[in-house]
Amino acid sequence: MRAVVLVGGFGTRLRPLTHTIPKPMLPVGHLPIIERVVANLGRGGVTEVTLALGFKPEPFIDAFPGGACAGVQLRYAVEPEPLDTAGAIRFAADASGIDDTFVVANGDVLTDLDVAELVRFHRERGAEATMHLIAVDDPSSFGVVAMDEDGRVRRFVEKPAPGTSSGNLINAGTYILEPSVLARIPLGARSSIERVTFPAVASDGGLYAKATEDYWLDVGRPELYLSANLDLLAGRRRYDTATGIHPGAAVHPDAVIVDSTVAAGARIDSGASVRESVILSGAVIGQQAEVVASVILGTVGAGATVTGCVLGSEGVVAAGERVAGERRPDPDAG
Ligand code: GTP
Repeated sequence: MRAVVLVGGFGTRLRPLTHTIPKPMLPVGHLPIIERVVANLGRGGVTEVTLALGFKPEPFIDAFPGGACAGVQLRYAVEPEPLDTAGAIRFAADASGIDDTFVVANGDVLTDLDVAELVRFHRERGAEATMHLIAVDDPSSFGVVAMDEDGRVRRFVEKPAPGTSSGNLINAGTYILEPSVLARIPLGARSSIERVTFPAVASDGGLYAKATEDYWLDVGRPELYLSANLDLLAGRRRYDTATGIHPGAAVHPDAVIVDSTVAAGARIDSGASVRESVILSGAVIGQQAEVVASVILGTVGAGATVTGCVLGSEGVVAAGERVAGERRPDPDAG
């Protein structure tokens, strides 16, 4: 089975991290998010993935020079301009000659979903398109789906206003599609699968959905990126595990690291303490600095205290400074 994985978004909500690293290439437990996404597709029977690329394609191509990822064959389709989700799926599927039932996944969604089971569900119902659903407490920033008993979608509301939705089952970002869906998507134009294509398939009676209770996380915002790493360390994933400190990290023996991921190429100096944080390759945490609930790609000076912050590669907290809830450099500046 073949799949298209969407990885061409700008990742604006994860700036400044995504100024240098595209969101699906950010590591979760020392492996890029995309590698964990592709590994789960592989477990579900996917043998070939086309990466739908746009913004910053090079890091993906460089990361998998052999054209394989997690044992799955990779192809690359680079859009000349961002085509939004449906446009990107059409472009990537056309580029790789997809002409049979295929899987689509968002490249920033981590899940333990059994993809083979979703394909079985799709085939049993003769669906044109099937979506994976997940229950969330606050559905207002997602697409909400209401369906009848056998899973046929009756109503599809993308990002309902708070308080107006009757359900909490949301579009979880993995789809099984028939090639006929591609013909519904305009060629080479911006178009959204969630807002345009799926409502059209639903009104023709061909859209089905299946809710599961699998681990699921949309790595859209910094606190969710942090959770993705902490969940892995805490053993909340069905298949994936990770150690906190990579053997290639330079961690001083006096430093205290608790519930954190420290990447190869990161440096943590004597007396520093790091808790519930992600320290990425190239980051430096100075002597006696304290880092809590933060994602650090930049530099924390000696004796500084950093809580709930995101430092991009150019982000600096000066020696002795105390900072809480900041992003540096400011993603909205310039
Ligand atoms: P934000 O800018 O923070 O909203 O992040 P994003 O750009 O990743 O957008 P969003 O999370 O809504 O996108 C969902 C998925 O679709 C992600 O995996 C994106 O990489 C991908 N995506 C969004 N727009 C495009 C596009 O125009 N082309 C391609 N190829 N992928 C896209």
